[in-house]
Amino acid sequence: MSTNKDFSTLCIRGGQEADPTHGAILPPIYQTTTFRKKVVGKDQTFSYSRVGNPTVAVLESRLGALEDCLPAVSFSSGMSAVTTLFLALLKKGDHVVCSDVVYGGTYRFLTEILAKLGVTCEFVDTSDPGQTKSALIRPTRLLLLESPANPTLKLTDIKANCALATKCGTLAVVDNTFAWRQLQFPSATIRIPHTMAGVACRVVGSGPGFFPS
Ligand SMILES: Cc1ncc(COP(=O)(O)O)c(C=O)c1O
Repeated sequence: MSTNKDFSTLCIRGGQEADPTHGAILPPIYQTTTFRKKVVGKDQTFSYSRVGNPTVAVLESRLGALEDCLPAVSFSSGMSAVTTLFLALLKKGDHVVCSDVVYGGTYRFLTEILAKLGVTCEFVDTSDPGQTKSALIRPTRLLLLESPANPTLKLTDIKANCALATKCGTLAVVDNTFAWRQLQFPSATIRIPHTMAGVACRVVGSGPGFFPS
């Protein structure tokens, strides 16, 4: 959305129109859990705030426009974004290749929760794409990269690793808490689903058809 706009304009206006109710320029804060049903039994854009809320929708559009990665989905914590990603994409019998340095919660979710559900995981030094290439010989559903990694700041060549994943038909996802898109992908040469953890909001951006419907 609006990728032809200047970056500074995107920062203050990206993904946002004036509020449709009264034309407010700044997004109003909708402090409500539920929304009145216009027609009983018919889906509407907003009905329950945990599922969707106009203020959160502005945040997601703004971040999606800045990240050039729509649709963007925000979560209340980094681990809820990571957990949702795993549970949406993985099933029993799937294999994951993961950067060897990852946030502790991600490591524990993979080794303690997903392992019990029949998902296997190999941790490899993705800063060496040769090691990723070797690991991906085994059929792999998901390549999870963390770069810059928490806590060592180890860097992974995201473009090279994603190219390897694409060749194998493996989904690639990048998580990080330190650098958002403008710092990670300054040349905007690649578009991959990614999460930003440890900031005021957490985003999983996805390309069309990324999440199973
Ligand atoms: C890379 C990464 N992913 C996920 C998380 C988890 O975020 P949260 O503590 O908000 O659940 C963190 C936290 O620092 C992180 O650094």
